[in-house]
Formats: sequence, C-alpha cells, structure tokens
Amino acid sequence: MAYDKLFEPAYIGNLKLKNRLVLSPMNTHFSIGEPSVLAERYFEYYKARTKGGVGLIITTHVKAEKDIDPYPLSFGYATLDSASQIKYFYEITEMAHRYDAKVAIELSPGTGRLADTVLEDKWPVGPSENGLLGMPDVKTRELSKEEIKKLVYSYGKSAGLAKQAGFDIIYVHFTAYLGDQFLSSVWNRRTDEYGGSLENRMRFLIECIESAKSNVGEDFPMIVGLALDHGFPEGRELEETIKIAKKMKEMGIDTLHLRRGSYDNMNLLIPTEYMEDGVSVEYANIVRDKVGIQVITDGNISDPELANKLVKENKIDFIGLARALLADPDWVNKVQANKKEDIIPCVRCMQCINRVTFGQYAACSVNPYLGKEYLGPIISTNNPKNILVIGGGMAGMVFALLASNKGHKITLIEKSSKLGGHLLEGAVMDHKKEVDSFCEYLVRKIKKSNVKVKYNTSGTKELVQKYKPDALVIATGSVPIIPQVPGIDKANVKIATNILKNDEKIGNNVIIVGGGLVGCETGLHLSQKGKNVIIIDMLPEIAQDVIFMSRSSLIQALHDKGVKTEGGIQLIEVTDKGIIVKDLNGDMKELTCDTVVISTGLKANDSLYEELKEEVEETYKIGDCIKARKFIDATQEAFQVAYDI
Ligand SMILES: Cc1cc2nc3c(=O)[nH]c(=O)nc-3n(C[C@H](O)[C@H](O)[C@H](O)COP(=O)(O)OP(=O)(O)OC[C@H]3O[C@@H](n4cnc5c(N)ncnc54)[C@H](O)[C@@H]3O)c2cc1C
Ligand SMILES: Cc1cc2nc3c(=O)[nH]c(=O)nc-3n(C[C@H](O)[C@H](O)[C@H](O)COP(=O)(O)O)c2cc1C
Ligand code: SF4
Repeated sequence: MAYDKLFEPAYIGNLKLKNRLVLSPMNTHFSIGEPSVLAERYFEYYKARTKGGVGLIITTHVKAEKDIDPYPLSFGYATLDSASQIKYFYEITEMAHRYDAKVAIELSPGTGRLADTVLEDKWPVGPSENGLLGMPDVKTRELSKEEIKKLVYSYGKSAGLAKQAGFDIIYVHFTAYLGDQFLSSVWNRRTDEYGGSLENRMRFLIECIESAKSNVGEDFPMIVGLALDHGFPEGRELEETIKIAKKMKEMGIDTLHLRRGSYDNMNLLIPTEYMEDGVSVEYANIVRDKVGIQVITDGNISDPELANKLVKENKIDFIGLARALLADPDWVNKVQANKKEDIIPCVRCMQCINRVTFGQYAACSVNPYLGKEYLGPIISTNNPKNILVIGGGMAGMVFALLASNKGHKITLIEKSSKLGGHLLEGAVMDHKKEVDSFCEYLVRKIKKSNVKVKYNTSGTKELVQKYKPDALVIATGSVPIIPQVPGIDKANVKIATNILKNDEKIGNNVIIVGGGLVGCETGLHLSQKGKNVIIIDMLPEIAQDVIFMSRSSLIQALHDKGVKTEGGIQLIEVTDKGIIVKDLNGDMKELTCDTVVISTGLKANDSLYEELKEEVEETYKIGDCIKARKFIDATQEAFQVAYDI
C-alpha cells in the first residue's frame, strides 16, 4: 500500500488503534444549550469523520467543572461534571466504536487567563494574578490551595464520568489553558508548593493525572497535551518541555500530543498558509527521541506523502489532522484507497477558526457541508431542471457540481479558456500550493461529472435566449478597480491579477499601489522572485481586509522577504519614473520604480445579472458578483442555492 506506515495498527497504553491517524481536537461551536452539550450537530460532525476512517478522535475541549472556573462562556465547551451529561458523550463514543475508532476526551481542569468575560461572583482565576489575554486590565485571582484541591478532585471525578461515557482515553489538556499556566513561570509566580521550581509547577498536572487515575484505574490509557514552546520571548522553551515529558514518562504516560505555540502565538498553534508544512515536527521529534515517548503532532501536515514519511522516518508516531478533516472528512479513507486526487484540500485560509473565535459556527471555504452534516446528504431532485451557470470560477464550479449531483442538467459557460477565475491568480504564489490543488480538484471533478462546459463563450442575453434555461445562475465574479489618475495607461503600469495569472514581465523595482490581500500577496510573490517591492496604501496599515487569524503571519512573511510598506499615502499620478503620491497632510512626493502594480481592489462584475434578472424567472447570483469577497462566501452561496433549487 502506498501509505503503509499510516495504516499500521498502533497502541496507546494497552489500547489498540487501527491506524496512526488522529482527528485533532477542534471546537466548532456545534454544541447547543446552556450549559452546552455535544448534541446532534456535533454528533453528525464526528460521525462523518469517524466513517471517514480515523483511528482516534480527540474531542473538542471539555470542562471538568464549572464551579470555580466556569470560563470560557462564549465558546460553547461542554462540561462533564455530572452523570446527567453522560448520555451526550456516550452517543459519540458508541457511534465511534461501531466504526472501530477510539475516542479520547480532551479534558481541561480550567481556563485561567483565557477567560472571555467576567462574572462578578466567579472572578476569573489562575495560578497567580495575570491579565486576561483578551482584557489585560482584568487580573485573574490567585487560586487558594483549597480551590486547587477542589479542581484536582473535580478533574478526577470528570475522568471517571468520561470512562462511564465510553471514552477510551483521557486526554489531559495542559496546552494553553489553566493547566499550561500552572506549568509556566511566566504565569505561575506562586510561592507555595504549586509554584517556583519546575517540580512545583508540575504538581497540578501530576495531581490531575493521579486524580484521574484513581477514578479510571492505573492502566487506563492517557494522552497528555502540552505546548512544545510558547512561541513568545518570556514563554516556555523546549528544554523545559523535555523535562516535563520525562516526568510524564515516569508516571506511565506513553503518548504526548505536542504542538508549538500558545494563544499568545496562535499562528504556531494553528499555522497559516504563509507557514511551512509540519511546523511542530522538528521539536516534537526532539522530545520523542530524548524522552523515548510516543508523540502525536499536527500543524500543516495535510499531504499524505509527508504524513507517511514522518511516521516512516520515526519523526513522529501519530499524525494529527485538524483542518484537513474539516475540509474533507473522508481524507483517511481516500488515502487508504490511494485516491489522493479525490481529497478536497484544505487551503489553510483560517476561516474556520476565525469564525469560531468570533462566536460563529465553524464553516469551511472548501467544504460547504461542514456543520451541515446533520441535514443529511443533498437528496436527488424529483424536478430536474436545465440550469445555465454563467462563470466558471469557484462559485460557478461548486454550484455546478452540487446541483449536478442532485440530478439537474447543468451547462457551465466560461468566457476564458480555463476554469478557476480568481483561483488561478490566487494559486500562483509558492505558499498557495493548496489553493492550486483545490482549483485542480474542482476542475477534475467538473470534468468527471455530467456538467457540460462551454469554454471561450461569453454569457450574453442572446445566449440565454437561445438556451431557454429553467433556471439561471450568474457567477461572473469580480474585476479589478483601476484608479483613474493621469498616466494610468502608461506602459510601466500593470494590473496585479494579470501579473499573477499571466506571469507578465516587470522591472526589478516595483511599487504596488494597494495593500489589501491581493496587493500583499502579489508583493510577497514578487519578492520571492527577487524583486524589490514597496507596497503603498491610503490606509495607515496594510492587509486590513485579511482575516485576523492570518494577518500577522502575512505581515511577518512580507517583513522576512524585505518588502517595505508605506501607509497613509494616495496615488495621484503615474509618471515615466514612478508615481506621485499625496500624504495625509496633503504633501506630494515622487517615488521611483520600474513598474507600478495596481491592486486597488476588486468590484462585483454584476452587469450581466442586472441585464438578465428579468429574462429568466428563476435567476440567482452567487459569489463575487454580489460583492468581491472571499472563498467562503462563494462556497456558502453556491451550496445554499444548490440546496434550495
Ligand atoms: C490574487 C487573489 C488572491 C485571493 N486570495 C484569497 C484567499 O487567500 N482567500 C480567500 O478567501 N479569497 C481570496 N481571494 C478572493 C477569491 O478568490 C474570490 O472571492 C473567489 O474566487 C470568487 O469566486 P467567484 O467564482 O465568485 O468569482 P471569479 O473567481 O471572479 O470567477 C468568475 C468567473 O466568471 C467568468 N466570467 C465573467 N464574466 C463572464 C461572462 N459574461 N460569461 C462567461 N464567463 C464569465 C470569469 O472569466 C471567471 O472565470 C483572492 C482573490 C485574488 C484576486
Ligand atoms: C476550528 C478549530 C478549532 C480548534 N479547537 C481546538 C480545541 O478545542 N482544542 C485544542 O486543543 N486545539 C484546537 N485547535 C487546534 C487543532 O487541534 C490543531 O492543533 C491545529 O489546527 C493545527 O493542526 P492542522 O494544521 O491539522 O489544522 C483548533 C483548531 C481549529 C482549526
Ligand atoms: S476554512 Fe479554510 S483553513 Fe479551515 S478547514 Fe476550510 S479550507 Fe481549511
């Protein structure tokens, strides 16, 4: 078998797993109710991934108690503190066992400085007084020893309930939250036996493990989740993690889930598209080798070849897959069947976690079914229609595939010789290899489907009148906005999307006008090709339209490549030598360069919709032709119309 190492059975403690592929813990907000429970939406989400072939599911974060540390309140983490909760969890473990998968509960003893709000009668707590991450002026109250004992007791009790609920493994969650804060001198400045030396700072972890063991039995399998390093100057470094790992081994723990980063450096914990593959592998391997313990790690390991190589070369023992399994719940089965080309690739766009961070259900840019598994599969229509789709970008292709699967007859009209729209431009940068894979995936799917594609054909009124479709879907996307300033037609002016798509020749010294996502990515791309790049923008800072979770990572990547940026200046004129700009005080200056690249935004290409909306009774528009936005909008709108039509 091509990926044989991934499908070797393996053990955690005395528990046999059918393969080495693990669903990493993910909060998707699919819990419901107050207090939260993992109800139907979560059940169906887990079921899809279990049927998809993973050997081990690690649940989302579950709170062991809510009396002393009830936070976070907005994240919808369920609590397992009473037998009345068992049924919600049992439903998941029972289902997983039917598919021969095992389930670990990610059990957290508390939240500490990651509290998201403040209840006056239950003030946020911590090992010491620390500013809350989200509200630095609010300080946690130092836990008393009596409270620590209660937390330890509750942890063990919850572990016991987890065993009753059918869990196979207790995952001791000491990454980022209260547990991690106890371990680290940056947040733990106690002077009693829970603070000071590393031995003391580990006491809470050790007591939680002992408390759990006394409720589940000495031999019950356990995984401990730890940060490898925190990724900020005062945070924990790898050397100390190695010492903690040694202690874990002494305590009989044989598997650790190790990841770099913290909430203070989320880009390491959930790496963006601008970061390399396998960001945590090197450090995890050092712990593995120095301590002689099994490790699970994740972080941009979505390529089956890489995953197999990492296990084969004894770098790590288990592959954690988080976003790869949001994007494609069947990743594991497809890899096992050697059908890599059928995998829907995660494009690492961070929309899923961005949505969760801002209180919404997780959704995915490439998998519109994420979170909608509970609706069941889209069922075949008993009223097949002739549907004309105009525009073969992401929105048009996703719609065409979904509607065709439902049994509609689809003709897809694309004015150029290629399908993909902006995906073709967005995929050319080195760090966007996953966008390229996604575009190729869609095109392959379209070619294999019943969708009829007409290339080099413009959607027009005449064409629609000729086809007489039952329904018309306009997905004509967006086009660049060109600022109408003197000199804009000069030969030294290029449009960013054209450079990306057509690899147009440009000079060595480049000024990019417009520092949004497209301008920044074009800048990164050109700097990777050795050009000297300056990005200017009217706004004081660049990358304002880049989602929060990716922004700092993109800015760091530009910085690493020496791209210069200047905010608060406006393009006034293009000259033969460069551009004339005006600053916020109204002062003018000239900036010289060989090529001026225009990237001043995209606007909806909606004129065809306006012309045709009365022509066919059932007419829809989807994607950027409503308003230039992001992948996720194109997919979600395509799904919605395909579901309804
Ligand atoms: C360089 C770049 C990078 C990007 N990176 C990201 C990113 O990292 N993350 C993210 O979320 N979003 C990103 N985006 C935005 C994202 O690409 C778009 O939101 C999304 O692709 C829009 O898809 P769409 O199908 O609606 O439109 P488009 O991609 O614009 O597709 C429209 C299609 O319709 C065709 N067409 C137009 N008029 C007609 C006509 N009359 N007849 C026939 N065909 C017609 C066009 O040729 C095109 O193929 C990026 C955009 C660009 C330009
Ligand atoms: C939407 C989302 C929610 C997450 N929630 C959790 C969580 O509840 N507990 C946790 O330990 N890690 C959580 N993570 C981190 C993942 O487990 C994983 O470490 C990270 O996404 C990197 O792996 P990947 O590159 O395979 O996505 C979350 C990640 C995502 C994308
Ligand atoms: S939303 Fe983006 S990052 Fe998250 S799983 Fe989907 S493609 Fe990957």
